[in-house]
Amino acid sequence: MRIPIVAGNWKMNTTIESAVGLVQEMKGELDKIPGIEKVLCPPFVSLSTVGNLIKGTSIELGAQNMYFEMEGAYTGEISPPMLKNLCQYIIIGHSERRIFFGETNEMVNKKLKAALKIGLIPILCVGENLKEKEAGKTEAVITNQVSAAMQEIASLQKTVIAYEPLWAIGSGKAASATQANTVLNLIRNIITKLYDEQTAQSIRLQYGGSVNSNNIGEFVEMPDIDGVLVGGASLKAAEFLSIVEQTSKIKQAK
Ligand code: PGA
Repeated sequence: MRIPIVAGNWKMNTTIESAVGLVQEMKGELDKIPGIEKVLCPPFVSLSTVGNLIKGTSIELGAQNMYFEMEGAYTGEISPPMLKNLCQYIIIGHSERRIFFGETNEMVNKKLKAALKIGLIPILCVGENLKEKEAGKTEAVITNQVSAAMQEIASLQKTVIAYEPLWAIGSGKAASATQANTVLNLIRNIITKLYDEQTAQSIRLQYGGSVNSNNIGEFVEMPDIDGVLVGGASLKAAEFLSIVEQTSKIKQAK
């Protein structure tokens, strides 16, 4: 049994003050939703504050990025040990990191290794862009991104993988549930080849890209979709609560 997981990626939104407001608004209800992991990923500067607010609840915390070196002269960067006692999860290789900050597959691999070494749970993001999709290259791109990220990694531990097609992120044009499930099933097959069947069956896979309270149901009805990574809709308490609630209900009924 894979425990469903919904994560809210707040991206570069909220100040410390508004982050507090958002958490206060949903924490009580969110805490009560059963049978599902709920992860909030606020900006770095709010991690500690949000962490304190959710202490003692079932809500978990994640960061949106980190550098792969453990310490040193890397002005402006955040290291794995800095995050280790602050949060449980770390988003790695989000497409916005790849597009705007030049993150390569090689860097993503180093970050994944660093996260596993320090004991943070990675949420590894992969996804093809529109041009690649239209050229029929989705399978090749995903296979390449997943295999490159996992180079020389002996055990994935609790790693979560999120399929986030670039054309669906922030566009209001989500993938269809069938499209998303097909790619996540492909990812499970890649994991079987790279590791083994048991790893593939136990690894949790998310879909991300324009998920909201109206379309969540279709996604989490799918057998290979264990949860979602939510951007825009995670900044609205009622939306996020509804997404988590629906996921919990649908998955519990299965
Ligand atoms: P979106 O972002 O839900 O706003 O499309 C998803 C993501 O980038 O994780």
